[in-house]
Amino acid sequence: MIITEQVDVLREQIKAWRNAGETIAFVPTMGNLHAGHLALVKRAQALGSKVVVSIFVNPTQFDRKEDLAAYPRTLAEDCAHLQTCGTDMVFTPTPALMYPTGGLATKVEVPGISQLLEGASRPGHFTGVSTVVCKLFNLVVPDVAVFGEKDFQQLMLIRQMVRDLDMDIRIEGLPTVREADGLAMSSRNGYLSAEERKIAPAFNRILREVVDALHKGGQDYASLQANAMKSLELQGFRPDYVEIRRAVDLLPAAAGDAPLVVLGSAWLGKARLIDNIPL
Ligand code: PAF
Repeated sequence: MIITEQVDVLREQIKAWRNAGETIAFVPTMGNLHAGHLALVKRAQALGSKVVVSIFVNPTQFDRKEDLAAYPRTLAEDCAHLQTCGTDMVFTPTPALMYPTGGLATKVEVPGISQLLEGASRPGHFTGVSTVVCKLFNLVVPDVAVFGEKDFQQLMLIRQMVRDLDMDIRIEGLPTVREADGLAMSSRNGYLSAEERKIAPAFNRILREVVDALHKGGQDYASLQANAMKSLELQGFRPDYVEIRRAVDLLPAAAGDAPLVVLGSAWLGKARLIDNIPL
């Protein structure tokens, strides 16, 4: 497995692989890898003959409420995991390489989708995501890139960017990988105390109750959302939102709309958890 933080090494290797007829599957990450990430890598292996994983804690997608410096960085362990699951190259650019002057004059914005839900709660977050992913796509030039559905809105944003900018990259989404108790796997789960970790699965359970009510024909979306927020508060969460949205564009759903997705975000201690369940 090649590990490099250098663009020249990355580009030369990709060129050599392409000349040899290989196809490139790409998994962008911020590191601190868990089984959810490794499932993305496994899927990438099925989709391309060479797998490139990037590890870059992207400063421009952090907002004031989350401490960039405190974000877990576990490069040695990450590389060990990636080695065992058959990754061909790990690209670990430095912030100075990605943002030579501290930032970029050019930004990639996907208005609309980037302003809803997570975008409303975390101003500027999605501009940071779309810009860095565009940059990584330009560096790696993959045939296919794999993202988790846990970040449902991020996946939609990337698909929109790829469509709008005619990027010749297939975007593959993979269902959320969960702990045995239903908690969606996330690097941010590491911020939970032992006590909070016991409470955390209630988040998915409460979203699931909304889904069950929808399956039973529930159409009073406002009440379902409000009840779920209340249940989260009773469990000790500080909910940000629970929303029943149209899965095609994440706009508020009206009775009869389909397909739907239930999305939520809630703070538990220092961790801001997000989850979603597509119907
Ligand atoms: O999902 C993530 O880990 C990040 O948002 C991504 C796509 C690697 C961009 O920094």
